[in-house]
Amino acid sequence: MDFSDRIQRVEPSATLAISNLAAELEAEGADVVDLSVGEPDFPTPENVVEAGQEAMDAGHTGYTSSNGIARLREAIAEKLRGDGLDYEAGNVIVTPGAKQALYEAVQTLVDDGDEVVLLDPAWVSYEAMVKLAGGDLDRVDLSPYDFQLEPALDELGEAISDETELLVVNSPSNPTGAVYSDAALEGVRDLAVEHDVTVISDEIYQQITYGAEPTSLGTFDGMADRTVTINGFSKAYSMTGWRLGYLAGPEELISEAGKLHSHSVSCATNFVQHAGVEALRNTDDAIEEMVEAFAERREFLLERLGEEGVEAPEPDGAFYLMMPVADDDQTWCEDALEEAHVATVPGSAFGAPGYARISYANSKERIGEAVDRLVDAGLL
Ligand SMILES: Cc1ncc(COP(=O)(O)O)c(C=O)c1O
Repeated sequence: MDFSDRIQRVEPSATLAISNLAAELEAEGADVVDLSVGEPDFPTPENVVEAGQEAMDAGHTGYTSSNGIARLREAIAEKLRGDGLDYEAGNVIVTPGAKQALYEAVQTLVDDGDEVVLLDPAWVSYEAMVKLAGGDLDRVDLSPYDFQLEPALDELGEAISDETELLVVNSPSNPTGAVYSDAALEGVRDLAVEHDVTVISDEIYQQITYGAEPTSLGTFDGMADRTVTINGFSKAYSMTGWRLGYLAGPEELISEAGKLHSHSVSCATNFVQHAGVEALRNTDDAIEEMVEAFAERREFLLERLGEEGVEAPEPDGAFYLMMPVADDDQTWCEDALEEAHVATVPGSAFGAPGYARISYANSKERIGEAVDRLVDAGLL
């Protein structure tokens, strides 16, 4: 078969590759502590499951309007207005997961040869999405600054020019857990306005923070017309398998992206959208409980690593931590998996060689077990 140039520009997701390897070891009988996964280890809140079941029973099983049911788009717009964004239902497209929302945004904005700036380390799929769209990547490395953006604004200023089409900002960040300060986001705004750049603000970890509250980028003066806000239900509501997310932005963007949406996925799953309304309206307690559990585990992991002399930059959000390991992080992660049966993701997959990404979406007991095993294997 003759495969497209487009598809040959990209590699499969590195995070999924490690999970697959871990699954193979488990199938052989190994007890693997999996700290590689990007999903909460909690069940979807019961009332959300019930809302999905009720919607199915009520016959909400056909196609919906392509951009999503009105009730959900209205609930999303209301949530975004709560964040300070001036959006109505017409500013929203509901997608099967935030990943699809990002894919549609990138396809809608990026042409062959367009320059796209990423902040490294960056979530693995941004690069692949830009390459699929034919864009060229320019990367700004935040690793020397404990993954913070504010100290790197000069470097971002050097990377962004009038040639830049798009910048992707993800706060709280996967893989670093960094939450960017308002001063950093103002710096982004100044550059975006000066060089007429569109910015994708991926806010999927917005609700999972430990003290530092991220401001939504589109709320800064001058950003409303140039920001695409991405969010979804996977992380905050523990709904990864339901596949529900959204993009929000100016109506002209919604109208263009809506073409791709209607010609690809048609719509997000009908009854899942109904469950999404319940998630947005009635889950504050469940989110609080989950975030409290993540906060405890984060504290515990930092403490245990500290005891072993490992100094990792403290994450302020999401449920990831970047741990400094050997220069050859790929080999370190393979050794950790094979010798200690601990699955992590090599930092180089995110553009941060010398680190491993640890997901602490796991019980304290298992996190402690993982650190013990890494110490016993001589890897910490
Ligand atoms: C930074 C970031 N954005 C977007 C997504 C996509 O999430 P989903 O498609 O499950 O909504 C993920 C998932 O891992 C993520 O880490």
